Amino acid sequence: TPAPLIDPFARPISYLRVSVTDRCDFRCVYCMSENMTFLPKADLLTLEELDRLCSAFVNLGVEKLRITGGEPLVRKGIMTFFRAMSRHLESGALRELTVTTNGSQLRKYAAELADCGVKRINVSLDTLDAQKFADITRWGRLGQVLDGIEAAKAAGLRVKINTVALKGFNEDELFPLLDWCAREGHDLTFIEVMPMGDLGNEDRLDQYWSLKDLRARIADRFALTDLDDRTGGPARYVRIDETGQKVGFITPLTHNFCESCNRVRLTCTGELYMCLGQEDMADLRAPLRVSPDDAVIEQAIRNAISRKPKGHDFDYSRQSVTGQMTRHMSHTGG
Ligand code: GTP
Ligand code: 5AD
Ligand code: SF4
Repeated sequence: TPAPLIDPFARPISYLRVSVTDRCDFRCVYCMSENMTFLPKADLLTLEELDRLCSAFVNLGVEKLRITGGEPLVRKGIMTFFRAMSRHLESGALRELTVTTNGSQLRKYAAELADCGVKRINVSLDTLDAQKFADITRWGRLGQVLDGIEAAKAAGLRVKINTVALKGFNEDELFPLLDWCAREGHDLTFIEVMPMGDLGNEDRLDQYWSLKDLRARIADRFALTDLDDRTGGPARYVRIDETGQKVGFITPLTHNFCESCNRVRLTCTGELYMCLGQEDMADLRAPLRVSPDDAVIEQAIRNAISRKPKGHDFDYSRQSVTGQMTRHMSHTGG
């Protein structure tokens, strides 16, 4: 078996996040501007190319594959790709195949995802108020997403809700969200909003609500026990003693977790980003198209990993945002 992927800071790379499309059926205000331009479809890797690239990573020891976007489930034919990846679960090479979705297409795909060996999924949901949901997504329907989440649960998928903490937007929904997740049996993870993408007129500083503050508000009301369990993702987890539920915190701003980074990101056009918060990337599409020999791709992957940076420079200082990326989260894959 080939040597595992180890980066310059001795971090083993075992987790690949793949954005299969930059498109989305929503336009969340912290993610995209209203008139976002998407890539021409011809620029996207084909499903066969995605399969070849992901399989090369699996061959190099990647054990966890997360399919993201944009909204991954709006990519045409995407189930063919999940089906293809499920063979790596069956062979035992892949430990986990999973997806991060906005939930809009789950009613249609939940059962098929489960059938492909997906066990748990992450669904982005920032509010339980239908009007606010329509506002933050610019036109999404909350009912459709809740319906999708229900379908996922019925299909036997475990659901983790991802909520971006947004000042003045969902502060008052902290306890309703916790309560709803406790009742429905979903895990809940909060995320600090990161300065990525050009949002037009939106100001990042107006959106940012630190999880230090959010966590303190929960701790005012409930007893929290720190949990050790790591899912291989960036979240730190606590248990709320009173309800028994698990709550995660993803804190790129207040508690940088880069030292334990185990992941890289593949974009829908075949660029490999070694860090969510850095511009450096390696083009894997050229080696992919140049040669049918997977050894060429594997070497390109190794070269890329050998330049993985130590971490991101996101920072909200008092008056300005530094570490701002013009690249959108939907291109790099959350
Ligand atoms: P599990 O722990 O397996 O549930 O997954 P995860 O938390 O890694 O995946 P998820 O897609 O739910 O990630 C949630 C969000 O965390 C992403 O959308 C990003 O906003 C953020 N995130 C994930 N990885 C990184 C990372 O390496 N750096 C930073 N700054 N943020 C990350
Ligand atoms: N900062 C933090 N999270 C973001 N997401 C999208 N853009 C940002 C951002 N700028 C979240 C989505 C989804 C996940 C894929 O990333 O809400 O939960
Ligand atoms: Fe779409 Fe997700 Fe971005 Fe919202 S955060 S616009 S659901 S990609």
